[in-house]
Amino acid sequence: MSFIKDMRKYLQLFNEYLASVPLAEQEPKNLYEPVSYVLSFGGKRIRPVLAMIACEMFGGKAEDVLPQATGIEIFHNFTLLHDDVMDNADMRRGNDTVHKKWNTNTAILSGDAMLILAYRYIAVGQKEKLPALLESFNRTALGVCEGQQYDMDFEKQQTVTLREYLEMIRLKTAVLIAGALDIGAIMGGASPEAREHLQEYGTNIGLAFQLQDDLLDLYGDEKTFGKKIGSDIIEKKKTFLWIKAQELLTPEGRISLRNAIDTADIAGVRKVYDSINIKEHCQEEIQKYYEKSLSTLKQLPNSTALENFSKELTLRIA
Ligand code: IPE
Ligand code: IPE
Ligand code: MG
Ligand code: MG
Ligand code: MG
Repeated sequence: MSFIKDMRKYLQLFNEYLASVPLAEQEPKNLYEPVSYVLSFGGKRIRPVLAMIACEMFGGKAEDVLPQATGIEIFHNFTLLHDDVMDNADMRRGNDTVHKKWNTNTAILSGDAMLILAYRYIAVGQKEKLPALLESFNRTALGVCEGQQYDMDFEKQQTVTLREYLEMIRLKTAVLIAGALDIGAIMGGASPEAREHLQEYGTNIGLAFQLQDDLLDLYGDEKTFGKKIGSDIIEKKKTFLWIKAQELLTPEGRISLRNAIDTADIAGVRKVYDSINIKEHCQEEIQKYYEKSLSTLKQLPNSTALENFSKELTLRIA
């Protein structure tokens, strides 16, 4: 993917730094091994890359934000450990999830350790900027918890509006993408106004990102996506696909969809969705937030890297 090519410089810097973080050799093994295990499978590393881009936009060096970018990536991976427990997911980045390979208690405790490690790396070497960094990171981390709770609450609800859904994904996903940018902006010395604009960009590209994740959960290729196809259906997630289908289907169609979901018939759900071109509707929505993200960039300096990032992200298949 050309996304990787453009971002090679940042990825290389980041991965080198991450490799120097001592994890695997620490005791007790059953606490730290799952941490290095999940981090070793890569992932796209979009959040640390965004932190580095943001830092450079305001005149900082990408290197300046490496510890904080590491803190953010460790935090993201922590949310994945716990998310996979909450979502009963067995596969992540093409491998067994931590709770599958070890057990749920390990996923909980290694996740807790990762949250603490994240704070350690956010704070590295900072005095003057620490209050701003912590304020930003705390707001972000709590937002993710709020979003994750809504996500689980919605599994049990019979109805969820598009507005409620968008707020849920803003919290569980967009807030961390915007938060990574904000940490980079703080380290680069951005003004409060610039940080605001960047948050708006991050929110919109973050919404597009989660919409795409919902789409790939059913229409992606398991090999490249690295997660089980159809898992949102099994877990009764109220995704964009489901919400849009409620609006577009006839009452009979809604009954067929409910039956297919209740019997975990993924092919059946896909058939109903295909009958109303749900994929195209979702792509339209992604396009909307992608364009919004681009328009917010007009108020920001040196925004070419983010512009390219937006373009590449909407082409993602993993
Ligand atoms: C997965 O995030 C969780 C979502 C917010 C959809 P990513 O798709 O960034 O996961 P990795 O880090 O690349 O594996
Ligand atoms: C992503 O939600 C949000 C967080 C992990 C915080 P998902 O549950 O859709 O993420 P995946 O699909 O498991 O990566
Ligand atoms: Mg999940
Ligand atoms: Mg989830
Ligand atoms: Mg998902």
